[in-house]
This record gives sequence, structure tokens and C-alpha cells, in this order.
Amino acid sequence: MELVDTHAHLNDEKFSEDLAEVVARAKEAGVSGIINMGDTMESSARVVELAGAMEGLFAGVGIHPEEAREMTGEDDDRLAAWAENPKVAAIGEIGLDYYWEKDPERRLLQKKMFIRQLDLARQLHLPVCIHDREAHGDLLAILKREGKGLRGVLHCYSGSLEMARDIFRMGWFIGVDGPLTFKNAAKLPEIIAYAPRDMVLVETDAPYMAPVPVRGKRNEPAYVRHVAEKVAEIWGVSLEEAAAQTTRNAEHIYTKIKSL
Ligand code: NI
Repeated sequence: MELVDTHAHLNDEKFSEDLAEVVARAKEAGVSGIINMGDTMESSARVVELAGAMEGLFAGVGIHPEEAREMTGEDDDRLAAWAENPKVAAIGEIGLDYYWEKDPERRLLQKKMFIRQLDLARQLHLPVCIHDREAHGDLLAILKREGKGLRGVLHCYSGSLEMARDIFRMGWFIGVDGPLTFKNAAKLPEIIAYAPRDMVLVETDAPYMAPVPVRGKRNEPAYVRHVAEKVAEIWGVSLEEAAAQTTRNAEHIYTKIKSL
């Protein structure tokens, strides 16, 4: 069995003590690839460094909406230089977060930064990994307007079934993680049942979002298996089949991980 954890943060200090063991456990669980996403320029540098140091690790580079600020030409140049790296698979995570940000001016700054990074991704021929928290309307409008010629994933999908229909029609993927396994995951199982099987990715968002049966603990890439099990249950297929399908999907969108 082969799984890819398409969204993790192994650069997080919660892994500083035992990173090698965490990666070894992932491999034992059948996880052959892990994409770590940056959220600032500093953490992006760190995930690129990790990807270079360990087999099976890849990186996404970019600035997360919670870290919104005016971007500079120097930021653009650094992101462009990282994009040349064979293990930098995405621009991410980028997007909008209206849950943590209520101030209209700061939200405007998020939008500006998001659009600038979408532009960069297009120029750099990289897919994007998108964070969307309680900003569905604005996010979808921006993707419709600015997403031409781009490919990407709405990670930790939390939108409606209607929005998912739009997303799939536009050729974008969705990523699911721990919340799919929660008892109160009202609409997510329905969305996964509806989703074209070639447009779904599994992820952990480790160290956050640990799935049942490890909910509440520090999450890690090995646990992506629990998410894949739930996807398999919803699709009515074996775990091996769901793993193979979602891994193909991951390689399809994040083409640089094909070198696994
Ligand atoms: Ni994340």
C-alpha cells in the first residue's frame, strides 16, 4: 500500500524532538511521500531544507493568510528561486482566513497577498495549496477571476457541496483530513461520496487535526491512513484501492512527487 500525506507541517516545533521517528513511522504505515507546507518565508526555508535532507519529503512554499503583510520583490525572488528546486512541489499554503481575521483592512491585505501568490504560481508553473477558513464566497470569486491557467487543491475542505461542485467543475481538487473521521462531520462524508474519485487527496495537517481514533493527540503523517480508511468506507472500496487512487491523484496534481 502506498499513501501520500499531501499536507503536513513537520517543521513545527512539536516535531523537534523526534522528527526521524515520525518519518520512520510514516514509512512503516505505507506513507511514501509527505508534503510539508510553509506558512511564512522562514518556515518555507525550513520545509525546503527538510525536503532536501530526507527522502520522501517535499515542500510547499508561501505565506499563509494569518501571516498577511505587504509582499516585496525580494519575497517574489525567493519564492521563484525555491520553485526551481525539484522537491518544491507547490506554492502553499496560501489563501484566506476570515475566522481569525475580522478586520476588513487586514482581510483586504490577505486578498492582495493571495492574488499575488496565485500570479507567482502561474508564472512558476507550480500548483497551489489553498487554505480557506470561513472565506468561501471571496475565495471562490477570486479563483474564478484569477485562477485561469492554475491548478490546485482546497486543503482541509470545509465548504458546501454546492461550492465543491464549482471547484470540481473548475478542475480543482479537495484535500480531506481528520475532520472527515469525526462523529460531527455532517457534510464532509456526503461531499466525499459525491466527489469525482480522481479529485480527492488525503492529508493530515499534522500536528493539527488528528483523526479518530487518535483525535486530540499530536497528529503525524502515519495517521493519514485513518483518513484513507474513512474515504475507502465512504466509497465502498478497500483501503488499498483508496490509497492507490488518492496517491495517483496526488501525483497528478503535485507532479514533482512522481519522482518518489
Ligand atoms: Ni496547514
